[in-house]
Amino acid sequence: MKNWVEWHLAYDDPSSGLVRRLAHVRRRVLAALEQAPAGEIRLTSMCAGQGHDVFGALAEFDRAADVVGRLVELDPLNVAAARRQAVPGIEVVEGDASVTSAYFPADVVLACGVFGNLSDEDVRRTVTLLPMLCREGATVVWTRHHDAPDLTPSIREWFGEAGFEEVGFDTEPGYSYSVGTHRLVGKPLPFVPGVKMFSFVGKPFDGRRSPRS
Ligand SMILES: C[S@@+](CC[C@H](N)C(=O)[O-])C[C@H]1O[C@@H](n2cnc3c(N)ncnc32)[C@H](O)[C@@H]1O
Repeated sequence: MKNWVEWHLAYDDPSSGLVRRLAHVRRRVLAALEQAPAGEIRLTSMCAGQGHDVFGALAEFDRAADVVGRLVELDPLNVAAARRQAVPGIEVVEGDASVTSAYFPADVVLACGVFGNLSDEDVRRTVTLLPMLCREGATVVWTRHHDAPDLTPSIREWFGEAGFEEVGFDTEPGYSYSVGTHRLVGKPLPFVPGVKMFSFVGKPFDGRRSPRS
């Protein structure tokens, strides 16, 4: 695999872990949307790729017209692919997702395919800063592989320390993905643009057998 466009090809293979992971992400995003009170629902997706998770969830959501969303993705070909799926109310921004300026505080925040590509320190920093990207009661849906050394126990602790409660943690025997869902029960942090959250250091192929997420 040479690039982040090819990474998405695993979504075309029904036997891939990525397809199984996607089903959990969509279900968790849809559940978060469904519990939102009447009125506008704000959604953001960090390193959004081609947006299969967001667009899949919205296709199932009766109030999709209420959703104002922003997907942030750096790769122009992935941006173009996401824009081909885009629905009214959802913008796909070609830009750097690592800085808070890319976002607005949202009710549903996706951080999928991100934490496996950051240093542990930056995962912690990002989780700690996530309340800045959240409105009150927001839900964050995130993913991370749990191959050794498994960072997910620490990530779940860091969410707790940042004011979130765990709604779900989905895994499946024989697959290395995990899908975490956390709801902000503490106060959002005041939104400050220009804060650098992470350096994305992952490569789409680094010699390991399966694509990481
Ligand atoms: C592992 S993929 C995940 C894509 C999508 N979230 C998913 O789960 O299907 C990581 C994505 O992050 C994008 N990316 C890498 N660095 C980025 C940055 N600084 N800002 C925005 N996107 C970035 C890549 O182009 C790639 O599409």
